[in-house]
Amino acid sequence: MAEIRSDPQAAGEATEAQISVHWREEEYYYPSARFVGQANLTDPSVIERFSEKHFPECFREYADLLTWDQYWHTTLDTSDPPFWKWFVGGKINASYNCVDRHLAKYKNKAALIFVPEPEDEATVSVTYRELYVRVNEFAALLRDFCGLKSGDRVTIHMPMVPELPVTMLACARLGIIHSVVFGGFSGEACGMRAADSGSRVLITMDGYYRNGKMIDHKTGADIALETAKQAGQQVDKVLVWRRHAGKSATVSPFVKDRDAWVDEILPNYRGQIVPPVPMDAEAPLFLMYTSGSTGKPKGCQHRTGGYLSYVAGTSKYIEDIHPEDVYWCMADIGWITGHSYIVYGPLSLAATSVLYEGVPTFPDAGRVWRIAERLDVNIFHTSPTAIRMLRKSGHDEPSKYNYHFKHMTTVGEPIEPEVWRWYHDTVGKGEAAIVDTWWQTENGGFLCSTKPAIDPMKPGSAGPGVPGIYPIIIDENNEPIAAGSGKAGNICIRNPWPGIMQTIWGDRDRFVSQYYAKYCKDRNSKDWHDWPYFAADGAVLAADGYFRILGRVDDVINVAGHRLGTKEIESACLTVPEVAEAAVVPVVDEIKGRVPEVYIALQPGIQASPAIVEKVNKAIEAMIGKIARPRRILIVPDMPKTRSGKLMRRVLAALSNNMSTGDITTLANPDIVEKVRELVQGKNAVTLADGPEDLKTFGTQE
Ligand code: WTA
Repeated sequence: MAEIRSDPQAAGEATEAQISVHWREEEYYYPSARFVGQANLTDPSVIERFSEKHFPECFREYADLLTWDQYWHTTLDTSDPPFWKWFVGGKINASYNCVDRHLAKYKNKAALIFVPEPEDEATVSVTYRELYVRVNEFAALLRDFCGLKSGDRVTIHMPMVPELPVTMLACARLGIIHSVVFGGFSGEACGMRAADSGSRVLITMDGYYRNGKMIDHKTGADIALETAKQAGQQVDKVLVWRRHAGKSATVSPFVKDRDAWVDEILPNYRGQIVPPVPMDAEAPLFLMYTSGSTGKPKGCQHRTGGYLSYVAGTSKYIEDIHPEDVYWCMADIGWITGHSYIVYGPLSLAATSVLYEGVPTFPDAGRVWRIAERLDVNIFHTSPTAIRMLRKSGHDEPSKYNYHFKHMTTVGEPIEPEVWRWYHDTVGKGEAAIVDTWWQTENGGFLCSTKPAIDPMKPGSAGPGVPGIYPIIIDENNEPIAAGSGKAGNICIRNPWPGIMQTIWGDRDRFVSQYYAKYCKDRNSKDWHDWPYFAADGAVLAADGYFRILGRVDDVINVAGHRLGTKEIESACLTVPEVAEAAVVPVVDEIKGRVPEVYIALQPGIQASPAIVEKVNKAIEAMIGKIARPRRILIVPDMPKTRSGKLMRRVLAALSNNMSTGDITTLANPDIVEKVRELVQGKNAVTLADGPEDLKTFGTQE
């Protein structure tokens, strides 16, 4: 596969735009008549309705799927580019839209079905009525016990349990901005995010099951609070949900007046009803931190009205969700996929959304298909990493179970056509329509995908822009690349859309420089046409208008569908005093797509030893989490550098991937390359003894 690189000129290589990508064109697959017969979106006039001629008013169709407290007067306000405003003047509550409004018709229908990891623990169905009661009671607790109000931020560090959506929806009910941090992130990573968002309250859980073990999770909260404090943020309340009634899964001591078991205070709010606060359409709904080119994760700030409209619309038309469907997205709610397509999208449409606590292959490779069979799941949504893993561990398992998917999604990474075909033929039993949805944390919802009942599928390609999204590929000279040219370039979105984030929390400048500066045609222009959104992904556009996504062009590594910043991992390495320099590069991995490999150079006079490697490994785990554990940590005598002293990560990446290093004559120390090659490809490297974190733990986009 062609690699797109961040700094091609530095070593005198071809620019991205010049790289020709010679894919074998894959054959089309067509959705079944049965799928088309029941689909939400079958009218091809949608293309015309959402064409540029009807922009931005076309998005009324999405907003009209919701119940507004006050209708908006301006669909799109472009007066302060690129800080677009959507549905201005409108008032709406996300919790009301995901819960209350379904009661009249669906109060006894399951909103959530929770599947605990231990197979002998019964599944738990939460009806819309029960969800309503729980959300209200917890909202009362947030308001009266914690003193929280609209606009306050709350950090949530929880596993995949129904209490997580309850917590999010309770926040949304009051206009409290939630910031969910993936449960697999370390306490430190959680604390940094809590500090950045200015959260006074942290909500966590005592423990959860992972790979057959009960993990003590609350201990992370203690570290998070310490980290936040050092970063200048006092968190004064920790609410702890309990995984098993009457038990505690944590050894962490409860700090008086700071920590509280939720189940001990919740009875004080029994039966309370908290009116949903009508929020401005532009009021922030949540923050979701993600990795970028710099060391500091950025808080993507998502708005209430535009975001909810966009996820409702795409859930209905691209995910094909109907209220009678049983929909299972195997992502973790702690990532954007979970926010948009486990919680807000499906619940806004009154679907039944399945939540699975644990590892897809626990206790064996048939688990996922047993869940699908038992719950009669008919829409299935997961990542290429999970698909690769399930294929490897149980190639023929799906045929042993009696389930039938009408629709399946893949998201988060490029999928190899071979893997796609297994997904289609074996998992989908040839019956399911597949959508390969390309988008990002910043985007709120899907950007490219086929419309499942209208467009044929093409293995390995995401497809055209979804309705109302006008993508384009631009080269390094700011020229558009034509469809079918076979050239790769940077995929951009020409227009604003309701799901796009509002800004980076507390950092307007970074929002502009990261996403718009590169291709902005005129900084003074108030015309959206002058402000294409730069996604930082390489892509090629086939003659049929389908985009094939190649991967990140910046310093982000996509590990098993999770974004990790190389700079974040490098700064964790540099906390080890013996380390002088660190460089992190992506290595191709059969299952996870990419995994990080770490190079370190030691301070003068320090001897390389396995103990240092272990220290670096521990530092990465503590500061980011197990998910970032590298494949190997290699101690090198020196790093390849340009004459100006710039560390050449790309040369290291080539060595790690057994690829050609290209022209290295421009380096200040070209002879180091051979020495490093011997280390990397030889047997003398001082490396991590036990390799990467076992795939069974945080290995997929769960
Ligand atoms: C990658 C996840 C290929 C891409 C929703 C993007 C994909 C990053 C696809 C965002 C796809 C996502 N095909 N690559 N269908 N979907 N990506 O923010 O590199 O966690 O920039 O959002 O994942 O990851 P994020």
